Amino acid sequence: MRFSDETLHDIKCRFRRELENGLGRDTNTTATVKMLPTFVRSIPDGSEKGDFLALDLGGSNFRILRVKVTQDKKQPVQMESLVYETPEDIIHGSGTQLFDHVAECLGDFMEKQKIKDKKLPVGFTFSFPCAQTKLDEAVLVTWTKKFKVSGVEGMDVVKLLNKAIKKRGDYEADIMAVVNDTTGTMMTCGFDDQRCEVGIIIGTGTNACYMEELRHIDLVEGDEGRMCINTEWGAFGDDGSLEDLRTEFDREIDRGSLNPGKQLFEKMASGMFMGELVRLILVKMAKEGLLFEGRITPELLTKGKIETKHVSAIENKEGLTKCKEILTRLGVEPSQEDCVAVQHVCTIVSFRSANLIAATLGGILTRLKDNKGVARLRTTVGIDGSMYKMHPQYARRLHKTVRRLVPDSDVRFLLSESGSAKGAAMVTAVAYRLADQTRQ
Ligand code: GLC
Repeated sequence: MRFSDETLHDIKCRFRRELENGLGRDTNTTATVKMLPTFVRSIPDGSEKGDFLALDLGGSNFRILRVKVTQDKKQPVQMESLVYETPEDIIHGSGTQLFDHVAECLGDFMEKQKIKDKKLPVGFTFSFPCAQTKLDEAVLVTWTKKFKVSGVEGMDVVKLLNKAIKKRGDYEADIMAVVNDTTGTMMTCGFDDQRCEVGIIIGTGTNACYMEELRHIDLVEGDEGRMCINTEWGAFGDDGSLEDLRTEFDREIDRGSLNPGKQLFEKMASGMFMGELVRLILVKMAKEGLLFEGRITPELLTKGKIETKHVSAIENKEGLTKCKEILTRLGVEPSQEDCVAVQHVCTIVSFRSANLIAATLGGILTRLKDNKGVARLRTTVGIDGSMYKMHPQYARRLHKTVRRLVPDSDVRFLLSESGSAKGAAMVTAVAYRLADQTRQ
């Protein structure tokens, strides 16, 4: 699981080829990294304004926000938000149930905000791969992460949501844009830093988007300007191209998942399986007598008993004490040496994730550099996601490795708080401004 810089460079090169395959007319249909056009053509220019609603579905929480964008220098973006439960039976139920639930929560939010009589523009952050031919249409390609809702794949989620809202009849909404969370993050950061042209999520899932030259996007008409591409890098490796790097633990995780054989890079790098990877390694080590004097308990053998937040806690300053607590709860009676070893395992697993993501991000950055034809790339990467935010060492390790893999660059990493959701409002705000310009 520990990669040399040579291996990381190799992964970076493999990923660059994937980017090219996904963009090409002849290679796109069979490409594993889908490179989906988003129809977002520019980052905000700061002149946006208005009152917007944003829905954020697909991350660790389902949230609804009201975002006011003003020309106020001190606080241009104000927002209020509420988190709504999305129970297990809904994320594994039917499409009708899911969109009825979303429409009901939106109604509740508008009621609480006392705006049920208004028809505000809505931006929808929908954090799954979608085929788009315009901003306000998004056909779900496939569910990923923890979601498996029947009857939605192949359908336009805007239509499904509009239908659910109409059926209620107690309020109206104008869904103007659907964006991926990566695009949302890039747009939010772009409002503060005009140089931002990449967005990354490292949370339950992982993915990235960036601004590509339109002349390289074979599937979209036109050669002038740029468009944001949602790479869906989580699927990297689904054609076997990462087989030499996957371990028996990765294979076991995949076998027990909702989508075997899919999202293989995501399963190695995102937060969703970090704890589980650690647990599988500990089980193997205990079986070989390398830990806990060979003690194996039912808890240690139970899927999900080590969570990603535990990995973060174990790698924190007071990590060893935490580690002892967590392992004791699993009933394995750890010694001090066991705790040190387990801490080491956590570091190896989370470091691998940061390294893998540094390699793929490195691929995107070198592509941006080549597109611009500059000797040195100066750019900003907007990032959001629980793994990146919560893990004590993650961000530092990622930044360091990226800088090593792409030496001729000055990369600024910008954490975007609630970026994924706020960004949907930003995209809507830009669309609104552009529509306004054409009206005038
Ligand atoms: C999964 C989704 C992708 C999303 C990412 C982060 O990879 O397929 O669309 O951006 O998770 O939430």
